[in-house]
Amino acid sequence: MRNLISLTDLNSAELEYLVARAVYIGRDGARAKSLADRAVGLYFSKSSTRTRTSFWAGAARLGAHTIAYGPDDLQLVTGETLQDTARVLSQYLDALVVRTNGPIGDMRSLSANASLSVVNALSECEHPTQAIADLATIAEEFGSLAGRHVLCVGEGNSSATALAYAAALTPGLRLTLLCPDGYGVPENVLETVERLGADCAQVAQYTDINRVRGTVDAIYTSRWQTMGVPKEDADWLRAFEGFRIDEEFVAKVASPHTVFLHDLPAVRGQEVSDDVLDGARSRAWRQARHKMTAAMSVLEWCITGTEHVH
Ligand code: CP
Repeated sequence: MRNLISLTDLNSAELEYLVARAVYIGRDGARAKSLADRAVGLYFSKSSTRTRTSFWAGAARLGAHTIAYGPDDLQLVTGETLQDTARVLSQYLDALVVRTNGPIGDMRSLSANASLSVVNALSECEHPTQAIADLATIAEEFGSLAGRHVLCVGEGNSSATALAYAAALTPGLRLTLLCPDGYGVPENVLETVERLGADCAQVAQYTDINRVRGTVDAIYTSRWQTMGVPKEDADWLRAFEGFRIDEEFVAKVASPHTVFLHDLPAVRGQEVSDDVLDGARSRAWRQARHKMTAAMSVLEWCITGTEHVH
């Protein structure tokens, strides 16, 4: 039994396996019912279209039974402790997939008191399964991750943080974060990236597009108003001027093979123009598909411990 609470808990080989398995499932499907008769809980206290549905559908395709809990469904809302909840759910479930508003420590606390696998489906600061889907999309597109350069534009949110950790764990993958001043990934994340990458991590953060040299293989963006969390500065949108991914932006950094990624949901016309999101470079819809292959890869790995890509 394993958990996937933070990518910082993984080593490079483990992340490489999870990505490779997701790519394989995306190509060949998962024919074996590797999770037959297993039970997976989905506790989402925040809204979700992709993550919740892809874990449900992925678990079903692998033969597992699922139960979904919304924000008011567990006795947590009436005061039952996380610890007691974990001990009880461990009697029934093999894994609990969790999305909360809370810090990652809540998931660690849950896991410490549980004998089931805990999977982070988005916490306050990190979205690890999103990064696995992102890397699977890039690996599928280019055949490998080594030597690729990803430009992640916009807010340094939980998806950007997870991508930075994933890049640090992936030898040869270069990530440039391009964020408005004051909206980048926090300094402690960049310090963790350095530690994870054994000081060889190719992750840099800039506020000026002129610092980005040459072309990139993938341009990635996210909603600027992450999960509807209001920003302190009422005038925050001004800081994001120049960070919209439109054809003019793409022309500055793209080669003929450059692809566009978006973790979705998008605010069309804000962080990305319609013509880019719907255009020939866009892999955002394939990336959404890889949410499910990543979910399947993670559930198998956590519950059964398998490490066979094929
Ligand atoms: N990308 C993502 O996590 O989407 P949902 O919020 O719809 O799950």
